[in-house]
Amino acid sequence: MENMIELKEITKEFKVLNRREGLKGSFQDLFSRDYKIVRAVDHISLSVKPGEIVGFLGPNGAGKSTTIKMMTGVLEPTSGELLVNGRIPYKNRTQNSQEIGVVFGQRSQLWWALPLIESFKLLKDIYQIPQEEYDGMMELYAKLVNFDEILHKPVRQMSLGQRTLSDILAAFLHNPKVVFLDEPTIGLDVAMKSKIRELILELNKQKHTTVILTTHDMGDVDALCERIVIIDKGKMLYDNDIVHLRKFFGAYRTLKIRPREKMDVMVEDLTKELEMMDVRISHDDEWVFLLVNEEKTSVLKVLGLIQEKHKIKDMQLEEISTEDVIKKIYKEGI
Ligand SMILES: Nc1ncnc2c1ncn2[C@@H]1O[C@H](COP(=O)(O)OP(=O)(O)OP(=O)(O)O)[C@@H](O)[C@H]1O
Ligand SMILES: [Mg+2]
Repeated sequence: MENMIELKEITKEFKVLNRREGLKGSFQDLFSRDYKIVRAVDHISLSVKPGEIVGFLGPNGAGKSTTIKMMTGVLEPTSGELLVNGRIPYKNRTQNSQEIGVVFGQRSQLWWALPLIESFKLLKDIYQIPQEEYDGMMELYAKLVNFDEILHKPVRQMSLGQRTLSDILAAFLHNPKVVFLDEPTIGLDVAMKSKIRELILELNKQKHTTVILTTHDMGDVDALCERIVIIDKGKMLYDNDIVHLRKFFGAYRTLKIRPREKMDVMVEDLTKELEMMDVRISHDDEWVFLLVNEEKTSVLKVLGLIQEKHKIKDMQLEEISTEDVIKKIYKEGI
């Protein structure tokens, strides 16, 4: 079989109640209901090969989770064709669940009151994982994560990070062909995020598992995804690798400046002039970030302009970040 996942012109519409405003509206709603159709996913086509890691990006409400729910068989598409591992997911839910693993944000599939090891044993029975395979997975997991910390802990006593880690281990336990992760690193600290990313990468490599994930975290994209799919308002805006995407914006570089004087004074003073040069300015507590389009103006010119009026403590020059690339695409399209 060629592709692990195949979407052809997939569309999902929801019928939602159009609520009328105010008390009068609420009464009207009781008697006559006024529905509208929301198109959450709009003719998306996509093929994913075995072993790929694909990241789904897009603003809130873009249709990422809805697309994943169709691929896992939870939702039926309104129209279009969809195959996962050669099967129609919502028509073969039992078989399908044998071949996929799912982690959906904050909702755990583990047994809350049980120590993790007991959940694993239950999953072993449910998925009928042969003893040898199960032992092999346990051995692999013990190498990849700090098992002592979590294995005998009831899930409800775990930190969010430990629970996410456990959820991911559970999703891979029966060695599924595809694992779907909806925002796997949301709410985690930097160290745990990088642990989770390493784990996903390693499992993908060792087991050749296809991984589909959604994220708002550009760190996830940089660490995990060779290929990204950008969705906005249900439509696919982009499907290619991240390197290719950066090439679109090859002319952009970020100049980072640490001012000697007060941050807001400098930013306020420069914003207007820089915007006229098509330079986007932003800042955090320490640095001012200037996104410069070198086709329009040079970094040196921008630096010169700043130094005319302001004293600088430190500066750095960086290629455009993934974050900036994505921001520009959301704002301006491709
Ligand atoms: N069960 C539902 N009933 C009605 N509308 C829905 C339903 N599920 C999703 N939608 C709508 O479909 C659109 C896409 O939602 P979806 O959850 O797929 O977005 P998302 O890309 O995952 O966003 P986020 O980044 O916020 O998680 C939204 O407008 C949402 O309100
Ligand atoms: Mg979502």
